[in-house]
Amino acid sequence: MKPTLEAVAVGAGFADGAGGRISALEEVDACFWPGQLSVIVGASGSGKSTLLQVLAGIVAPERGRVICGTLDVGALDGTRRDAWRLANCGIVFQDFRLIGELDALANTLLPAHFMHLRAPAALHRRAQSLLADLGLAGRLGPVARLSRGEQQRVALARALLLDPPMLLADEATASLDAENGQRVADALRAAANAGKTVIAVTHDDKLSTLADQRLTLKAGRVVEPRRFRS
Ligand SMILES: Nc1ncnc2c1ncn2[C@@H]1O[C@H](COP(=O)(O)OP(=O)(O)OP(=O)(O)O)[C@@H](O)[C@H]1O
Ligand SMILES: [Mg+2]
Repeated sequence: MKPTLEAVAVGAGFADGAGGRISALEEVDACFWPGQLSVIVGASGSGKSTLLQVLAGIVAPERGRVICGTLDVGALDGTRRDAWRLANCGIVFQDFRLIGELDALANTLLPAHFMHLRAPAALHRRAQSLLADLGLAGRLGPVARLSRGEQQRVALARALLLDPPMLLADEATASLDAENGQRVADALRAAANAGKTVIAVTHDDKLSTLADQRLTLKAGRVVEPRRFRS
């Protein structure tokens, strides 16, 4: 089967604020397939979030390519990358990126507002059902008043709203107790079983044991599984 998403010799970095560059990714090769849960592990600062953001087209690679089917996502301009992401990727950010003043339902429905002026009733029902599946039925009030673990699950519901073919989650179980961590891990596994391409950055063994593939990053390079390109 062809991969949904492929990173080929990807390099990425950031300005260091003093006129130099910080390298975050070097020569990263990786393939991600539909129906598979892939986890990305590695020490803090090893480049996990940067890789997820390059794969989601949020950060453009400085070198190499990010390929989705026949499309070179990394070569698209910012507007086209944004449109590609909206159609293809549900993302759970490490810092959630919810709107604190809005409630769980309104946050979950945010992606709908990029596509419709008002979310149709079917999407309302889907948002409510996703929140209920994640143990958040009937949570009212601004999400800023919810616990971190509750906010994290709202971020997952939002990522799933438009039923994207790819789901990318950055430390999606990190703030959760055992029961809710398992619930989110099971939701990511179920998304893969339903045919999505699921990519999750994690430190969590619960999630790693459910994965089909594990990539380990060290100082911006994939050290496991090893690949030797000719
Ligand atoms: N926006 C940014 N500006 C400057 N440097 C950045 C930026 N984002 C990441 N970096 C740097 O890139 C490197 C990789 O960071 P990244 O956030 O990808 O690591 P990580 O593996 O996700 O770490 P953690 O487990 O702590 O979340 C680090 O050296 C980090 O300081
Ligand atoms: Mg990170």
